[in-house]
Amino acid sequence: MSETKKSDVTVPAQASAPEAENDVLLKVQGLQKHFPIRKGVLQRQVGAVKAVDGIDFEVRRGETLGVVGESGCGKSTMGRVITRLQDPTGGSIHFEGKDITRLNTAGMRPLRRDIQMIFQDPYGSLNPRHTIGSIVSAPFRLQGVEPEGGVKKEVQRLLELVGLSPEHYNRYPHEFSGGQRQRIGIARALALKPKLVVADEPVSALDVSIQAQVVNLMDDLQQELGLTYVIIAHDLSVVRHVSDRIAVMYLGKIVELADRTSLYESPMHPYTKALMSAVPVPDPRRRGAKSERILLRGDVPSPIAPPPGCRFHTRCWKATEICKTTEPPLLELRPGQQVACHHPESFQDQAPQDTVLLTAAKEAAELVADEVLAESAETSAAVAAEVKAHAEPASEGVSRTSDGVSKSSDGVSKTSDGVSKTSDEPESTDK
Ligand SMILES: Nc1ncnc2c1ncn2[C@@H]1O[C@H](COP(=O)(O)OP(=O)(O)OP(=O)(O)O)[C@@H](O)[C@H]1O
Ligand code: SF4
Ligand SMILES: [Mg+2]
Repeated sequence: MSETKKSDVTVPAQASAPEAENDVLLKVQGLQKHFPIRKGVLQRQVGAVKAVDGIDFEVRRGETLGVVGESGCGKSTMGRVITRLQDPTGGSIHFEGKDITRLNTAGMRPLRRDIQMIFQDPYGSLNPRHTIGSIVSAPFRLQGVEPEGGVKKEVQRLLELVGLSPEHYNRYPHEFSGGQRQRIGIARALALKPKLVVADEPVSALDVSIQAQVVNLMDDLQQELGLTYVIIAHDLSVVRHVSDRIAVMYLGKIVELADRTSLYESPMHPYTKALMSAVPVPDPRRRGAKSERILLRGDVPSPIAPPPGCRFHTRCWKATEICKTTEPPLLELRPGQQVACHHPESFQDQAPQDTVLLTAAKEAAELVADEVLAESAETSAAVAAEVKAHAEPASEGVSRTSDGVSKSSDGVSKTSDGVSKTSDEPESTDK
């Protein structure tokens, strides 16, 4: 990956209307995917897992949209639905202006060339009984495409393109390492020269030392082939360096969607801020620093019965009564930065009349010193360093004094920017 690439973002943040329409490769509106829960002899539906529950976003030509969120928030489901590997329950998907929401298998067949997916597990996604040649040439067979120069020559070219040897053509998956297998998966995804590649955690199953190589390869291929990516990850440090824009998902919803710089320098959703505060920045100047980070307590609630109002209210340190009852809409609060929150960070309060924190909010987040997270964050830092990140300090988004989380001796009271604290010491530094 070139070091300057993502700073020279070619995707315009604000294009004029007709230009913007042309610029959009994929448009998703109100997308839902509910998995029915059935019980009894009659297999009656008794509920549904609301894996994706009404999301809107666009992917522009040539850009990389990163999608992040905790385990179970619906990222993979979203990926499978927008590639139409699964049918949506509701909403719409437009690809190059064409409505593909309800296309059947036959209708989708020509589009399979344009939309490809790279899977997380490089071990499970390659058939162990097939040679690499057979695996990478499968898309040609399925689509009845005869590449110029023949299939074998094209497959060998693709293997070279992803950094493997043409001699690997007759070998089997078990003869390759995880990183090499992921390269094979990438070669297969690129065989038909797709326009959109959805990569579901493409590096999370790989060793740290290999992750950066694969990320860099994907980035190089994007520039070389003009690809558009949706990259799903739970690791913000990986997404940060490859994305032009980032969508943050929580429990089936997008809670914040912004360009990379805005999101990292000034996250507005409390959940984004919490995710961000767990991302280490490889900055020697901060080594040993005692700044605080937000550590979210508890698991993501069940998508079978998501909390009413704002779904994050059970874990949010800024939650007030309105958060419990009224779902905040995803609004563009700053140019290019959409946020779903009644009390956004570093911005005018959307519900200023609501000032009393919910009891649970006082316990929702805890503050820890940098060193506490350092160990668990080592992996992310190593990858981030490897992908030659620009050194913008993401953790500056978390500032306890200006708009962070803090507590007064006599309880907690919300200010326009969060919760204020009189004592200088973090509440818990011994975790
Ligand atoms: N086929 C299915 N049937 C029923 N429930 C499902 C199915 N696929 C996913 N789910 C549920 O939908 C929710 C979202 O799952 P999904 O795999 O999309 O999450 P994710 O964000 O990709 O998580 P992870 O980071 O762990 O991969 C989960 O609660 C999951 O159990
Ligand atoms: S302040 Fe309220 S609306 Fe905003 S994230 Fe927290 S709970 Fe949700
Ligand atoms: Mg997943």
